[in-house]
Amino acid sequence: MEELIRKALEARKYSYSPYSGFQVGAALLAADGRIFTGCNIENAAFTPTICAERTAFFKAVSEGCTDFVRIAIVGGRKEMPDDYAYPCGVCRQVMAEFCEDDFEIVSALSENDYKVHLLKELLPERFGKGNLLETGKK
Ligand code: THU
Repeated sequence: MEELIRKALEARKYSYSPYSGFQVGAALLAADGRIFTGCNIENAAFTPTICAERTAFFKAVSEGCTDFVRIAIVGGRKEMPDDYAYPCGVCRQVMAEFCEDDFEIVSALSENDYKVHLLKELLPERFGKGNLLETGKK
């Protein structure tokens, strides 16, 4: 857990957030042990902005990785975050595309101060592939 949070804190340093000043870092642990990091990347046209969590997911999926264990998230406007950061609704939906109910979302302030929630807690009654595909269980 500590290593994943450390990587999220490192990724947060690359946050490109000149408009909100809200810097977010994420580190996504895959089932095969790989870790994919991400930061939020803002845009002057606003809507192209992407969250740290989705950056991490899209990096992973674009490298052929679709099986995940947990994600650590750190975010805030100050040098060190002073509040636990939770994923936005869009990021929860992206998690739902690839993750089971027991996927862990780790909202961290530091390497040893964090809260863990399951995806099913943060996105109950999800809309997912099971609604559209015969084979999709998730
Ligand atoms: N943001 C994230 O990166 N992750 C979240 O879960 C919430 C919001 C970013 C998007 C934007 O760059 C800034 O935080 C303020 O919304």
